[in-house]
Amino acid sequence: MTTTLAPENKAMLPEIKTPLPGPKAKAVVDRDHTIMSPSYTRDYPFVMERGEGCIVWDVDGNSFLDMAAGIAVNSTGHSHPRVVAAIQDQAAKFLHMSGTDFYYDVQVRLAERICKYAPIKGDKKIFFTNSGTEAIEGALKLARHHKHGTQMIAFYGSFHGRTMGSLSLTASKSTQRKGFSPFLGGIFHVNYGESVANIENNVIKRVVDEAGFAALFVEPIQGEGGYIVPSREWLHDLRGLCDKYGILLVADEVQSGMGRTGKMFACDHFGLQPDIICIAKGIASGMPLGAFIARADIMDWKPGQHGTTFGGNPVACAAAHATVDLLEESLMENATQVGGHLKGRLEELQKKVKCISGARGLGLMLAFDVVDASGKPSPEIRNKIVLKAYEHGILILGCGAHAIRVCPPLVISREQADFFVDTLATICREI
Ligand SMILES: Cc1ncc(COP(=O)(O)O)c(C=O)c1O
Repeated sequence: MTTTLAPENKAMLPEIKTPLPGPKAKAVVDRDHTIMSPSYTRDYPFVMERGEGCIVWDVDGNSFLDMAAGIAVNSTGHSHPRVVAAIQDQAAKFLHMSGTDFYYDVQVRLAERICKYAPIKGDKKIFFTNSGTEAIEGALKLARHHKHGTQMIAFYGSFHGRTMGSLSLTASKSTQRKGFSPFLGGIFHVNYGESVANIENNVIKRVVDEAGFAALFVEPIQGEGGYIVPSREWLHDLRGLCDKYGILLVADEVQSGMGRTGKMFACDHFGLQPDIICIAKGIASGMPLGAFIARADIMDWKPGQHGTTFGGNPVACAAAHATVDLLEESLMENATQVGGHLKGRLEELQKKVKCISGARGLGLMLAFDVVDASGKPSPEIRNKIVLKAYEHGILILGCGAHAIRVCPPLVISREQADFFVDTLATICREI
């Protein structure tokens, strides 16, 4: 299976050759710390040199198994030859022309392709951005514009981005918001999974203007908040609530979309039809691209009401075409198969070791909680496991208060998935 599904994923397993960080990595980290913004959140000193498939090399020649994919971005693996070829081909033609002012086919074709997949009823229109937060900002502006309302509902634990509009919707960690108020007015947060009756009675019916709600933003799988998979019923109840009050249902699929869960959109697993969908991360294998897609009648603004210089850049669009080709050919299937296998192995492991519980997720959007010997959530042990994994040649990232997310490139092989779980078992025993 490895050879058919991921022929480019040749370098199979990691190898640590120097003490970590090695001397070259240490030098880069030291320079970085003197010049770069201290707001970045690095957990360990991995300094990238190059990558291939699921394997990445640091500047000292150590190789690592990448179970994080640049926060769920490198969907086709690192520098997939077909993505690189598409980028090179487009770069030799033209690098930029601004889709706001001019036309180019590579963008229109991508719009047609993505809109065909988007689980939104009827005709659709799309706006391309550079990032996830810009996709959310655009959706937020569009909802305000279309509904002539400013009130929004979002969820605790949600992460929608860090620019002022999306940050107003974000309610994940207090550090992300502390010191940046005032936020957009009219945004009401409720618990993820809160009963729709409570949302209706405690939020919609108790605020100044029942009819002033423009949008409800929901991640169909909550990402940064802990990779929480909600019930199908709850998502459908939200749809019903939005229909009752004429609220636009906005699905933030920035992390869950573009094949990560084994289907193009996480909404497809639940049969959920939002009014607007936001995507970014995996769409172009690492090139900066995002988008929001809306029902055509909702995207009713006029020329000049929204625009972007770089969004929908032709090189990023070319990378996205190659990405979608690969997703269609084999990678969504690989995410389903290897993701299912990986989840099964994590479920087995949590029966054998004390520090892991709650394995969950869809496709290759998986996570598990880390707990102490008494079963209590333990951010400290979680952080230890993340660091130990790095020392064992595996890159992982945390999510939520005490969880670890498993979101490797979608080219990951069964052998690599097994290596990850076996190493995790060793780490748990060491700890
Ligand atoms: C669900 C979700 N929405 C929005 C964003 C923001 O995306 P970006 O970092 O590209 O601005 C993220 C980023 O992690 C995300 O996970």
